[in-house]
Amino acid sequence: MFSRLIALRLCLICALSFAIVDAGQALAQSGGEDAHLAIENPAELSKEEALQIYASLQRRMAQGYAAAQFEQLRNYQNWPLFNDAPYISATHGQRFVNSYANRMAHNYGTLQEGEKLPIGSVLAKDSMTVTDEGNTHPGALFVMEKLAEGTSPEMADWRYIMVMPDGSLFGDTMGDRADNVAYCHDCHEAVADRDYTFFVPEEYVVGN
Ligand code: HEC
Repeated sequence: MFSRLIALRLCLICALSFAIVDAGQALAQSGGEDAHLAIENPAELSKEEALQIYASLQRRMAQGYAAAQFEQLRNYQNWPLFNDAPYISATHGQRFVNSYANRMAHNYGTLQEGEKLPIGSVLAKDSMTVTDEGNTHPGALFVMEKLAEGTSPEMADWRYIMVMPDGSLFGDTMGDRADNVAYCHDCHEAVADRDYTFFVPEEYVVGN
């Protein structure tokens, strides 16, 4: 409980970095229509509405991200999904997000304090924008991958990747534009006792 509070405070500090992400996203989107996109007005959706909109976008999203050619993300939409409907993530630019984890990450949903996810675990969080004017479009894909011990000690062997909706790379802590995504771990550090994972908001956990 205590660490959650700290997490929340850190998140407020980190909110600033998301302004930068939003700018990046706006730049990466072709066409002028979204050029000044900062999602100040996310729509209020019921779970059913959010699910419907996601269903209409998800194939396009998968195709976009696939252009980045990360083998470890192939078919991520077939992995276990841990939320029962897309939910607004304040810490990821007010976008609606989903939380997928590959089969290697079998204990993602049940992680106890002090436990770790196995090497090869990949967590993928896709996102979509829905404004209250009814505009909908794919957002970025947020990824965490657990590397072999000692590969990235300063990030507890987590690799962070952010892929834009068109498949271009915003940053990869183990590859290009690592600086762009260094702030990911700064915030996830707040939940070091859960192996740096926050998990899904309670009211969206599958089965709750
Ligand atoms: C300001 C804090 C903050 C920052 C910065 C942040 N995250 Fe997160 N992240 C969260 C929170 C809170 C959750 C869980 C709730 C949610 O989904 O919004 C989360 C969830 C995730 C998940 C699902 C795994 C989990 O923790 O349960 C992934 C994957 C992820 N973030 C990747 C990233 C990447 C990649 C970046 C950098 C581009 C990033 N995050 C930056 C706070 C943050």
